[in-house]
Amino acid sequence: MTPERPLRVAVVGSGPAGFYAAGALLAHDSPVEVDLFDRLPTPWGLVRLGVAPDHPKIKSVSRAFEKISQRPGFRFFGNVDVGRDISPEELAEHYDAVIYAYGAQADRRMGIPGEDLPGSFAATEFVAWYNGHPDFQDLPFDLSSERAVVIGNGNVAVDVARMLALVSEEISPTDTTDEAIAAILGSGIREIVVLGRRGPVQAAFTTPELQELRELAGADLVVDPADLELDPVSAAALEEDTALARRNVEVLREVVAAPTTGKEKRVVLRFCVSPVAIVGDERVEAVEVVRNVLVADESGHIRAVPTEEREVIPCGIVLRSVGYRGTEIAGVPFDEWRATIKNDQGRVLDEGGAPIPGLYCAGWIKRGPSGVIGTNKKDATETVQLLLADAEAGLLPSRVDEDIAEALSERGVEPISYAGWEAIDVVERALGENQGRPRVKLCHWDVLLAAAESPG
Ligand SMILES: Cc1cc2nc3c(=O)[nH]c(=O)nc-3n(C[C@H](O)[C@H](O)[C@H](O)COP(=O)(O)OP(=O)(O)OC[C@H]3O[C@@H](n4cnc5c(N)ncnc54)[C@H](O)[C@@H]3O)c2cc1C
Ligand SMILES: NC(=O)c1ccc[n+]([C@@H]2O[C@H](COP(=O)([O-])OP(=O)(O)OC[C@H]3O[C@@H](n4cnc5c(N)ncnc54)[C@H](OP(=O)(O)O)[C@@H]3O)[C@@H](O)[C@H]2O)c1
Repeated sequence: MTPERPLRVAVVGSGPAGFYAAGALLAHDSPVEVDLFDRLPTPWGLVRLGVAPDHPKIKSVSRAFEKISQRPGFRFFGNVDVGRDISPEELAEHYDAVIYAYGAQADRRMGIPGEDLPGSFAATEFVAWYNGHPDFQDLPFDLSSERAVVIGNGNVAVDVARMLALVSEEISPTDTTDEAIAAILGSGIREIVVLGRRGPVQAAFTTPELQELRELAGADLVVDPADLELDPVSAAALEEDTALARRNVEVLREVVAAPTTGKEKRVVLRFCVSPVAIVGDERVEAVEVVRNVLVADESGHIRAVPTEEREVIPCGIVLRSVGYRGTEIAGVPFDEWRATIKNDQGRVLDEGGAPIPGLYCAGWIKRGPSGVIGTNKKDATETVQLLLADAEAGLLPSRVDEDIAEALSERGVEPISYAGWEAIDVVERALGENQGRPRVKLCHWDVLLAAAESPG
């Protein structure tokens, strides 16, 4: 790491973890060059393609990423899929260090019958569809039935339930895709049932997100008062528990006490029920659930234990929101059980548990699919500090002096540069401006790639 020979780092994935890692590297005193790779032509990961479109303030964190991209030494290589277009071995050859920050690209499976029936979708797919991810635009979301069931009690479940309930004044000013806006506004869905396998005290959603469900223009929030008569383990947990559970229960008690106002739709939160099957002949017709009781195990963890009591909830669409899941890039050590890269605080480990010189990871693929955008800043900074310490200690392997751009061009891969992304951005913002929306997303590969070539 001398002024003549800057430290050259590849970061794979341009979501929050990738950008925060790039930012921490480029803020270093010695010269550093960062090449940020993404398989999509567009940066920002889930900030663009996950965060709900009716949360524009949260999406505005992208301004911090724009600033990072302006720092000397930064380059963007969009439309380059690591693992397909270039291998981890080749990256390792071309860079002093590589940081894998490619998020969690799949969904956790529930392992129940009927999970793959037409009409049963992972929330990951629905979210990617309404946010304009180019790989998810052809999915057949049929919103014509009267009832949708959302499985899970995290913030993603709340996001998808809320999105299904939005009315025109709420959804039209957002950057939800035109197709999703039309489908949601034209939908026949009148009731959205959200299923939590444990109780209100154990819900993973946060209070502002719960509160938003109360403030929907076109939907009442409904909770069965019986669900708030806490069982002894939950009552005890609430006494010692975090402020989050207390605030959630407080809001839920207010919901129960308040009269419903007869809005056109209802969002119904159900607790202590687990789906045991998604049923239907040709497509989803219902979800069969079992009632659970809550039991604290020896470590104090509160588990849902099924009873004999079953119920069938008729519905036409199921959105399974039980968590994202990391996937493997061949050649990067992967822990199947945790579905993360094998690592120690961000240093990638080999089979024997020893750090592999020059290989690091950050974000959801490092620690699993939890935490808000800001969590990835601390996480990526931790990784970068270890990387820089290893560089100082002379622990990084040597690299070849070829620019990766040459290797990519030789095999016909055409990366989208940051200027290419800015050209897409200009087109999207201009389309949005005419309609009073932050942007109208281009959401098909051919259109995105053509816009990236346009003069901007
Ligand atoms: C639906 C949803 C809504 C959320 N809403 C909020 C919110 O409102 N507020 C909040 O604070 N947090 C929110 N979060 C959490 C937040 O989005 C995550 O904490 C954060 O995005 C994780 O960052 P990451 O960089 O690890 O992964 P990601 O954001 O997923 O970024 C990974 C990037 O890697 C790229 N990539 C994948 N594979 C490859 C490959 N092979 N080669 C090259 N590139 C690759 C992807 O295209 C992507 O751009 C939300 C999460 C979800 C799922
Ligand atoms: N507005 C925001 O700030 C925002 C928005 C969206 C996402 N995020 C963040 O992004 C991260 C991911 O969110 P997420 O909602 O995908 O994950 P999550 O918070 O981990 O929630 C997953 C939910 O799925 C449930 N679940 C898991 N397996 C199940 C099964 N087999 N049957 C029934 N339920 C099951 C879990 O219940 P158990 O608790 O019983 O396991 C939990 O309620 C979180 O950290 C979240 O806060 C933030």
